[in-house]
Amino acid sequence: MSETFIKNLTWRFATKKFNAKKKVSAKNLEKILNAIRFTPSSHGIQPYHIIVVTDQSLKEKIKKYSFSQNQVSDCSHLLVFCAQTDLKKRVNDYVTFASEGDKEKEMALQNFKLAKIKLVGKLKTDEALAWSAKQTYLALGFAMAACAELKIDSCPMEGFLPKEVDKLLKLPKHLKSVAMLPIGYRAQEPERKKFRYPKSDLFSQK
Ligand SMILES: Cc1cc2nc3c(=O)[nH]c(=O)nc-3n(C[C@H](O)[C@H](O)[C@H](O)COP(=O)(O)O)c2cc1C
Repeated sequence: MSETFIKNLTWRFATKKFNAKKKVSAKNLEKILNAIRFTPSSHGIQPYHIIVVTDQSLKEKIKKYSFSQNQVSDCSHLLVFCAQTDLKKRVNDYVTFASEGDKEKEMALQNFKLAKIKLVGKLKTDEALAWSAKQTYLALGFAMAACAELKIDSCPMEGFLPKEVDKLLKLPKHLKSVAMLPIGYRAQEPERKKFRYPKSDLFSQK
């Protein structure tokens, strides 16, 4: 395994102070969004939607519901990760998109569709949210790793009021914000040394 991945992970830190003047290029943003797009998800149904906020006044409003954390307004782009709760529709959409308008392909996916609807399409809204949020956090992780590879800083965030942010973003009922990722460039190096538990604590073998 290349050492670069680990080096990038130790370079990154949860950036609180961004250089508000330095913007992430469209090309790099595209790479980060692609990393999100290629994130694996359970059953492959990608039950999330990510909103990229650049409008400064909207960022300021979101900051008010994020305990005034400066990274929300000073970042270059604010990625809001939303989980989907209408999983039956998500499965149906999967079949529609994956069949590419080909009736035979659609027929071949019928068993897949019925099985997935049975598994996740019947979850109650709160259960669906919990399940989709887990998939959404994987996408958040891939986004952070992609940022680190591009030497772009980021700060994963749960410290905000989702219901208020959902209202500000005018989210439809089936989308719920679960995490945010301000991205951009650090204004200063980390103030604290990175802490990680020792391997003996985190891992064991059987
Ligand atoms: C799911 C999640 C939510 C987090 N929420 C916040 C947050 O709201 N504000 C913040 O400043 N940091 C937040 N953090 C950052 C963590 O505190 C940070 O990742 C952790 O202390 C490890 O430090 P490092 O990322 O610098 O290595 C969050 C991290 C994760 C993974």
